[in-house]
Amino acid sequence: MTTFVEVTYDQHVSTLTINRPDKLNALSREVLSDLSVAVGAIAANTEVRAAVITGTGKAFVAGADIAAMKNMNEAQGREFGALGHQVFAAIENLRFPVIAAVNGFALGGGCELALACDFIYASCKAKFGQPEVNLGIIPGFGGTQRLPRRVGPAVARELIFTGKMINAEDALRIGLANAVFEPEELLAAALKTASEIASKGPLAVAAAKRLIRDGVDLPLPQANELERAAFGEAFATEDQSEGMGAFLEKRSPAFKGV
Ligand code: COA
Repeated sequence: MTTFVEVTYDQHVSTLTINRPDKLNALSREVLSDLSVAVGAIAANTEVRAAVITGTGKAFVAGADIAAMKNMNEAQGREFGALGHQVFAAIENLRFPVIAAVNGFALGGGCELALACDFIYASCKAKFGQPEVNLGIIPGFGGTQRLPRRVGPAVARELIFTGKMINAEDALRIGLANAVFEPEELLAAALKTASEIASKGPLAVAAAKRLIRDGVDLPLPQANELERAAFGEAFATEDQSEGMGAFLEKRSPAFKGV
């Protein structure tokens, strides 16, 4: 537990809640540092097999903290961008899947935070956008890179060049969000999917996450090489023996992650 990020655990699922509602969960250095500590904590917890990131109040995260950035010079801007990149890379590199439960505004750094997660569930009240050009800056926590990889370059160009906000339905249509829920059902839906993921072979899920993340930017033959190696490695695990044994014995598997 830190000032701005609440961390909870329920069996194999962890939930991180960004908690600075009076500023719509805007990412100051302090919030990013707290997020970094929270991500480190769930990474170190060997029981965790899936996570959900969400926000308190009417925003997921309304962006990097504009008041804190207003008087930054070039070196400070560079350093702030590096901090955001570092924290979001840590999320992307978690061994288990992370679902962004986007409960409201996901703008600028908020949209980039959601993009650092494996996939996005959105409230029907959610709003997405990369409005940085309105402020005379560019997306600085991965938006120019992760958004085109998620929704395609042309759609990402339009969003980033215009800085416009889109609603949840449009986010779903362009493939930014995987699903849209009533506000009061969003977190339960994200937790249900996280629990389902956590019930699977954790080493297999972790390998699949790593392969998709690492392979997506490689030429297909090279990417397939990664899969070929990892598929063989799965047969060195007890989980493989347990999963297949359980199937053949018509019972539920008890995966141990070894
Ligand atoms: N950085 C710092 N503070 C922010 C913020 C941000 N990115 N987004 C919102 N806030 C603050 C507001 O300044 C306000 O603080 P105050 O009550 O002390 O004046 C508080 O959060 C509530 O925001 P407010 O603008 O009053 O809410 P709203 O419902 O009228 O509008 C938004 C919501 C999201 C449309 C609007 O806050 C907004 O445009 N935020 C900036 C989005 C942005 O450009 N993000 C990218 C940053 S790089």
